[in-house]
Amino acid sequence: MQYGRFDDARREYVITTPRTPLPWINYLGSEEFFTILSNTAGGYSFYRDARLRRLTRYRYNNAPLDQEGFHVYIRDGETVWNPGWQPTQTELDRYECRHGLGYTLIEGGKNGVLARQELLVPQGDNCLLMRLTLRNESGAAKRLRVFPYVEFCLWDAMDDSSNFQRNFSTGEVEVVGPAIYHKTEYRERRDHYAVFWADRQPDAFDTARDAFLGVYGSPARPEAVFGGGCTGSLAHGWQPVAAQQFDLPLAPGAEETILFGLGYIENPAAEKFTAPGVVNKSRAEAMMARYADAASFDAALEALRGHWSALLGGFQVSTGEAKLDRMVNIWNQYQCMVTFNMSRSASYFESGMGRGMGFRDSCQDLLGFVHMIPERARQRILDIAATQFPDGSAYHQYQPLTKKGNLAVGSGFNDDPLWLIAGTDAYLRETGDWSILDELCDFDNDPQLAQPLLEHLRRSFRYTCTHLGPHGLPLIGRADWNDCLNLNCFSEHPGESFQITGPSEGPVAESVFIAGMFVKYGRAWAAICRHLGLDAEAAEAETAIADMEKTVLDAGWDGEWFRRAYDAFGHVIGGRECEEGQIFIEPQGMCVMAGIGKESGEAARALRSVEERLDTKYGIVLLQPAYTRYHLELGEISSYPPGYKENAGIFCHNNPWIVCAETELGHGDRAFEVYRRTCPAFIEDISEIHRTEPYVYSQMVAGRDAPSFGEGKNSWLTGTAAWTFLSVSQAILGVKPTLDGLAIDPCVPADVKGFSVVRRYRGAEYRIRVENPDGVQKGVRRMLVDGKAADGNLIPVQPAGSVVEVLVTMG
Ligand code: BGC
Ligand code: NOJ
Repeated sequence: MQYGRFDDARREYVITTPRTPLPWINYLGSEEFFTILSNTAGGYSFYRDARLRRLTRYRYNNAPLDQEGFHVYIRDGETVWNPGWQPTQTELDRYECRHGLGYTLIEGGKNGVLARQELLVPQGDNCLLMRLTLRNESGAAKRLRVFPYVEFCLWDAMDDSSNFQRNFSTGEVEVVGPAIYHKTEYRERRDHYAVFWADRQPDAFDTARDAFLGVYGSPARPEAVFGGGCTGSLAHGWQPVAAQQFDLPLAPGAEETILFGLGYIENPAAEKFTAPGVVNKSRAEAMMARYADAASFDAALEALRGHWSALLGGFQVSTGEAKLDRMVNIWNQYQCMVTFNMSRSASYFESGMGRGMGFRDSCQDLLGFVHMIPERARQRILDIAATQFPDGSAYHQYQPLTKKGNLAVGSGFNDDPLWLIAGTDAYLRETGDWSILDELCDFDNDPQLAQPLLEHLRRSFRYTCTHLGPHGLPLIGRADWNDCLNLNCFSEHPGESFQITGPSEGPVAESVFIAGMFVKYGRAWAAICRHLGLDAEAAEAETAIADMEKTVLDAGWDGEWFRRAYDAFGHVIGGRECEEGQIFIEPQGMCVMAGIGKESGEAARALRSVEERLDTKYGIVLLQPAYTRYHLELGEISSYPPGYKENAGIFCHNNPWIVCAETELGHGDRAFEVYRRTCPAFIEDISEIHRTEPYVYSQMVAGRDAPSFGEGKNSWLTGTAAWTFLSVSQAILGVKPTLDGLAIDPCVPADVKGFSVVRRYRGAEYRIRVENPDGVQKGVRRMLVDGKAADGNLIPVQPAGSVVEVLVTMG
């Protein structure tokens, strides 16, 4: 069942009922001011940091669901309704929500009145704009009362939801004309305030929630709306809100538009006040003035469209398969940008108060957005590297505002260092900007310890070399990519962290997955060394890699698949002798991507085992058989009921590893099949089962052991975005940036006759046409670059500004 449809020409997803299986959201803003917005206008805004600079309040995990947001109430006679249906849930005569790239349009109609609510965060400004258009299509005169409403958060979202003894007494506002200023804590430690404004004078307002909703009222039934209107309340403590009332007579056929804004303003300390206690509003007034002109909203919308066209223009494919094209050209790249902006902080599953930026997550996210914004990728790499420790290990997380590592979580996730090589390598292949390796980056955020980025990569590589276990495989530490495989933790008490309880640097537990990473990204490190003329170092690295390959094929091979790990007692994990958890997806994906066992046959055998044992109609599950009881020696993984999350859920993140692995072996049919099964656009018609948004990936889909097999969770903020984009653009469509230029190496289903890609790369535009006359799955027979036969399938780097025609014949 579908709850909407794709509108590819406008790059929108059109939701046609407000009763989606879960709120389906969008992200507005891609610089410093952000808003999360659901299809019924629920959500919240924040400036840079979803925890520390939360502008509006949102109650997670609440019932009824998704009540706080950017709602407008319309009172028409005795009927009160919202254009987005929530929170009153008054049945609408018509409804449509269009989530576009950086904007959302919600249209609702009731009793002959059409209301259109358009929301966006303009480029280059710290505010949310909301344009409301009301049209009377009823044929009779109407007297409407219109009320916009937002509830302010007292800035620190964590404190806001726990420290009530203080917070019920600190709230402060000022009201000047059509602007409501939220200035809690401005008198002392804050130099920022929020402003909610309208572009015309309201007939009344409220700033105290009790006055607007009623002490026992609710967003679904605000007293002011259902009763006699706003009262002019001024919040002192309790809950400051911004509510306004507009009395609007609307003749038949007439239309009225009101523009609202919610802005974030910072004042320099010396300019905070214009009189004792009175906020200096000049910056807010300048912001309001920027949108005073009716054309300014349209201009902001146009600018957004241009921005996204430019970003997405770096990779556009045309295959004739609409679902594939729309994911690659629009939604998958869009999701990659959102993960760049948010990391794992704020979604409808991430409260914005939890983890900061993950070291591993941020490095992997890079793989998906580096082609769109290489300059920002560069800065991100340098920020991440500065949280590495001198021995090559790394803080597992860091804070976006301070860019400092999180002491509370610390380090010891032994895959982390290698991801820094992965991210930097992707940047180098994309940009050819070798100067990044000379940039000085702190270790442990300490400028005294700064070293060139190259030295950081060296220490990343060496960290694995110096942390090997009894079999010669890498020690796992607190966990590797699988945060829930906690082999040195032994947590027995509720509330203990699964990751950081117990000895971190267990000297026994080893990871075959990290071994695969070491081979794959170690090769990248060796290639970087070669490029720099560090031949001895490259050779040394290659020897260590070759040794590791042997070790994997020996201690890491189970006969039909790669083992997962060895636990703290030296027992095999992910082997046939295990009662549960006999086979895991991660080492199959990573070891085959690394090329381990490619010549000797283990790679192909491992992928067959994946197909035989882990495949389901909704994707590949993480492991089988699922753990049915808690295994103290394995940790969090066995704490999840079978079929969920890392315990045999379909972890969408590592499905693309299998896609990439299959293409390594030339299996184009299978690679595409694996891609298709988790791809949102291909499963749009089972939205009642999948439940999460059909335009973005979820981190996890419940596996076959779960009662809710096929149900998605944790949509939006997941490494799945980057990895699927990489798998489809580089592994399937075969447009691969290398250190020396763009290589074309498609691996497609045999029935694909051809496709075209436009790829921006190092300043030039490559127009690539691939033809597959013989119906092969892999192999390039011939390549013409601007009509001239190329040597092999590598396009030499072309001058910036040039347009290059490339014709590739598979065979
Ligand atoms: C989740 C993992 C996640 C980890 C992050 C765990 O509870 O299951 O998917 O990586 O938390 O801290
Ligand atoms: C989500 C985390 O953000 C990521 O870092 C981790 O690799 C996966 N979960 C798997 O546990």
